[in-house]
Amino acid sequence: MRERAAAAAMGRRSSTGAWWRLVVFTLIVSCAAVRHAGAEQTAAVASAHPLATAAGHAVLERGGNAFDAAIAVAAALAVVEPYSSGLGGGGFFLLHRAADSAQVMVDARETAPGAVAMSQYFDRDGRPIPGATVRGGTAAAIPGLPAALVHLEQRYGKLPLAVTLAPAIRLAREGFQVDSRYAQIAKMRESFLQSGVNTEVFLDRGRAPQTGYRLRQPALAATLERIARSGAAGFYEGPVAAAMVDAVNRAGGAWRAADLTGYKVIEREPVRFEYRGATITAAALPSAGGIALAQSLAMLEGFALERVGEPATDHLIVEALRRAFHDRARYLADPDFVRVPVARLVSRDYARSRAASITATKASRSDALGVVPDGLPKAESRNTTHLSIVDSAGNRVAATVTINLLFGSGVVPAGTGVLLNNEMDDFTLRADVPNAFMLKGGLANRIEPRKRPLSSMTPAFVEDDKGVLVLGAPGGSRIVSQVLLATLEYLRAPDVDLARLVAMPRYHHQYWPDHVEVEPQGFSAEWRAAMSAKGHEVVVANRRWGNMQAVFKAKRGGAAQAASDPRGAGVAGY
Ligand code: GLY
Repeated sequence: MRERAAAAAMGRRSSTGAWWRLVVFTLIVSCAAVRHAGAEQTAAVASAHPLATAAGHAVLERGGNAFDAAIAVAAALAVVEPYSSGLGGGGFFLLHRAADSAQVMVDARETAPGAVAMSQYFDRDGRPIPGATVRGGTAAAIPGLPAALVHLEQRYGKLPLAVTLAPAIRLAREGFQVDSRYAQIAKMRESFLQSGVNTEVFLDRGRAPQTGYRLRQPALAATLERIARSGAAGFYEGPVAAAMVDAVNRAGGAWRAADLTGYKVIEREPVRFEYRGATITAAALPSAGGIALAQSLAMLEGFALERVGEPATDHLIVEALRRAFHDRARYLADPDFVRVPVARLVSRDYARSRAASITATKASRSDALGVVPDGLPKAESRNTTHLSIVDSAGNRVAATVTINLLFGSGVVPAGTGVLLNNEMDDFTLRADVPNAFMLKGGLANRIEPRKRPLSSMTPAFVEDDKGVLVLGAPGGSRIVSQVLLATLEYLRAPDVDLARLVAMPRYHHQYWPDHVEVEPQGFSAEWRAAMSAKGHEVVVANRRWGNMQAVFKAKRGGAAQAASDPRGAGVAGY
């Protein structure tokens, strides 16, 4: 079986039987990472792991809706992709409820602990303490994912958590065979896992496991069972909460029990806008993603575009991204702490004023747009995960969830199996200190007690005459450009080619560093020369990025299809 097929998403087969038949079916799909649903197939699930996708299908088979399936998929991903997301992390769930067309973003972003202090991140001479935001107790923010799963069940789902969490519990208790992607990431992070707090659970006798190793996580199964039995209290109170506070504080952090009992998801109005006749809905603050998408597209609306991949068009897209990321650095942060002029930023008038300095022939310079703080880029990392679901009734979920960098903070509180995030790195420590995604921000995004760090995660819906595209991706700051390029290509093409959308070559610009980063395959020497001739510095990355998950539901007939990024299961593709 080609590894690529392991990430295959599939349209719902209404006649399929039991869970394991679904798993086996998924595993033998070997020709492509996309399946077109037939006329009777009106639901679809796309996720980064076949066992998570199968968990979603199993819950749909049990009569669950898209929201139930999202609980099952997110929980299963927490087990089978522990390096990407999990109960110790958070995320954003973009929902569409068919019955009343209600759309909402469930903000399950982690929060800074109430007792957080800058002295945990800076030494006496005012220098950032190396690693303080990425490793150990100071790196971990209060998790939001368990609260989101409970919220989805209580407000939107049809099935109890005992049913929707059952696949994840089984995978954690009975184990699953790790794939080559897991084996490679664990190898890359072997010394991190050897020296973390209880992280040996992700290793095989102290070493990165080989492909095929059965990874069992009984403590995580027990925590999932507590949540299934007791809801949020099973995580945010009692022994799991006590173990988390204890472990974080032993590892240098400053959590209190009240940080956990006080954690709440927030329902927020998503960013919604029109672009050339399509309606686009995407993540709101504290994600920067929806605003950056809206700003980029509003700027591009003033230009005649060809297709993505043509240098004339790509130059304009890069210029729009440059300006959107500039505004991100200047204005964006947790809206409960900072007044962000969102309406103005996404307005057409503002887009016109920002686009006025774009010319078709010549690249701008980021430092000419405004102050560019100095600083050395750190290594970039790939992590996070995304799931897209539509059900037969037309409910939809686009959810991007994360523990931030691969294997998060490296802290697993004893007896819980919960790997805590290192989301504190998504705050701005200082304007001259970039984070792991080389993002520099303004002090609007500085660390404050109970604040949510700014994110790039961009779950999105794109609706036009063809139907609705539900999409998203991991990749840190590069999430925004992935979703932008796929959206432009979806809207340009008269037919829907999901496999192409998730596979198309990618480039990225984020204002600083002032260069266009391109994937190693997909951009010819002529393309690079054309971009360079306009004044862009083109940097070829050493590997491809992203792991897009997309589903589509046709307006006429309601047929559904799904596609997973071919990069997702490839050894070099995570
Ligand atoms: N942790 C990556 C992001 O939220 O953008």
